[in-house]
Amino acid sequence: MLEIKNIHKTFFKGTINEKQALIDVSLKLEDGDFVTVIGGNGAGKSTIIKSIVGIQTISGGAITVCGYDVQTQPVEAKTQIGFVPDHYALYEKLKQDLKKEGLFDFDDMIQEAVRILKTDKGFCLTLSERYQFIMLDEFQDTNSIQYELLTLLAGKDSHVHFVNYTTGDITRRLAEYKAIEEKALALADDIPESDVGATLVGCDQG
Ligand SMILES: Nc1ncnc2c1ncn2[C@@H]1O[C@H](COP(=O)(O)OP(=O)(O)OP(=O)(O)O)[C@@H](O)[C@H]1O
Ligand SMILES: [Mg+2]
Repeated sequence: MLEIKNIHKTFFKGTINEKQALIDVSLKLEDGDFVTVIGGNGAGKSTIIKSIVGIQTISGGAITVCGYDVQTQPVEAKTQIGFVPDHYALYEKLKQDLKKEGLFDFDDMIQEAVRILKTDKGFCLTLSERYQFIMLDEFQDTNSIQYELLTLLAGKDSHVHFVNYTTGDITRRLAEYKAIEEKALALADDIPESDVGATLVGCDQG
């Protein structure tokens, strides 16, 4: 499944900073094996992991993952591996690059909108006055950041309409309607200065 055969790793070879991080390391794992690598700081643990997942080259030896050589078949080997790094360097870099280009990750767009609306109260008021009708699809799936955006966008005269689905027999549906009503009233409470009530309209057929 995973075979590490006599691998070596030397950083800055041939320079005054030369550092042998791994010397003749071998390991063989079969299906279902569970292994923990233990060692002091600088012992080479991360270097072994990075070599296996192919984000760092090795200076000698060979590593195969499910029969794929990580050096000569890197794509095939990587499709067999999951990796949780100790530092999210790629994510940080992605965020920096997006910022440089003036772009947003789709998920960050709501977060950024909430940040702006919370810091610029005047802008928030202008928008909440402009959007008199707010339509919200699948209210039951609203997550906390979407909910926060909704409460920021809705002003005291706003009309918030949402669609929620219910399933099951009549008893279950009635219980669900009750839960939706409570959720709607809680939403009205969370909209500043709102005197909104909740009206529920059932729709059983398409
Ligand atoms: N990119 C690099 N350039 C130069 N030297 C490095 C590099 N990465 C690691 N080293 C050196 O290789 C040796 C092994 O480092 P490694 O990060 O694998 O240790 P570790 O066992 O993961 O330690 P820690 O417990 O601190 O995470 C250390 O001496 C380290 O300074
Ligand atoms: Mg480490």
